[in-house]
Amino acid sequence: MENRRAAITAVGGYLPDYILTNQELEKMVDTNNDWILERTGIRERRILKGDNMGSSFMGTKAVNELIEKSGVDPNEIELLICCTVTPDMQFPATANIIATEVGAVNAFSYDINAACSGFIYGLSTAAKFIESGMHSKIVVVGVDKMSSIIDYEDRATCIIFGDGAGAVLLEATDQEQGVLDYYLRSDGIGEKHLHMKAGGSRKPASHQTVDNKEHFVYQEGKAVFKFAVTNMADAAYKVMQQNNLTADDIAYLVPHQANKRIIDATAKRMGIGDDKVMLNIDRYGNTTAATIPLCLWDYEKKLHKGDNLILAAFGGGFTWGAVYVKWAYEI
Ligand code: UT7
Repeated sequence: MENRRAAITAVGGYLPDYILTNQELEKMVDTNNDWILERTGIRERRILKGDNMGSSFMGTKAVNELIEKSGVDPNEIELLICCTVTPDMQFPATANIIATEVGAVNAFSYDINAACSGFIYGLSTAAKFIESGMHSKIVVVGVDKMSSIIDYEDRATCIIFGDGAGAVLLEATDQEQGVLDYYLRSDGIGEKHLHMKAGGSRKPASHQTVDNKEHFVYQEGKAVFKFAVTNMADAAYKVMQQNNLTADDIAYLVPHQANKRIIDATAKRMGIGDDKVMLNIDRYGNTTAATIPLCLWDYEKKLHKGDNLILAAFGGGFTWGAVYVKWAYEI
């Protein structure tokens, strides 16, 4: 293949059954439905309940759905990348567990930790493996069980996050479609504004870290918002510019679902209307690495071959960026 590209050829998703509504959160912390809706756009989120259920459980469900829908033989999957900040364990990689669970016995697999930008980092990386000619079938999973690292006594964070998983199959194509371009960035300055204090090598878990509630998401919301609102919009605009795309050329913005106000600012910068913005934050909240593939999963039926999509994200690290995808199929 002379002009080898990586096309998304199938999407899978999984959401846990349990729905945590704003009304239920009102009984847990000092908050209210109006504040949450107005400041974030979230009505409800899904929570994975049950003992011994981690991100691999949801990731496996999403990939199995993708395998069923596409008819791909799991033996032919050569690489599986799992994007997550809530791996089942520090090691082995959650990708290793998912690959084995779905029968991808000939694949190598690894995790990528780029927080809310995880999926666009994973997608761009996978595309390069295909473009290089090294591999032809790759699965990228975005999954997070945010409820495992959220303090449900902290109203500033517990209202935002939810659990879920999405996955895409990438296949080699000689057509000008699939992952066409990207712009990705990171800046470690983000550490001070958004992190988990303990449980890593710098501060291993101890009785004290548990007592101090240091195994939960620490977020300075206002500071993160400021970085997110400008950088996500700039990245989306930059990818449009790099590819000479105007607002009219864009079928959909596929934004990370952290806050409806950040999404609106990105759409405004791109010059596109609400009708061209994929949105499910109201139902799922912020599922971190899963938001973008879950948007693709929700909107799959509305997409047409040749549609220009801009995927954009901002998250912990800081990490941010945007990916230009030309959609490759209809259902
Ligand atoms: O996906 C990873 C990247 N993360 C993000 O992109 C998140 C970016 N940040 C945000 O989305 C927003 O900053 C939040 C949704 C987290 C917070 O919204 P905000 O409009 O920035 O609120 P704030 O933190 O400035 O707080 C405003 C007020 C405060 O009260 P005072 O000090 O003005 O009296 C808060 O204590 O709202 C209060 N508040 C709440 N009130 C009701 C904070 N959380 C709540 C709550 N319910 N849940």
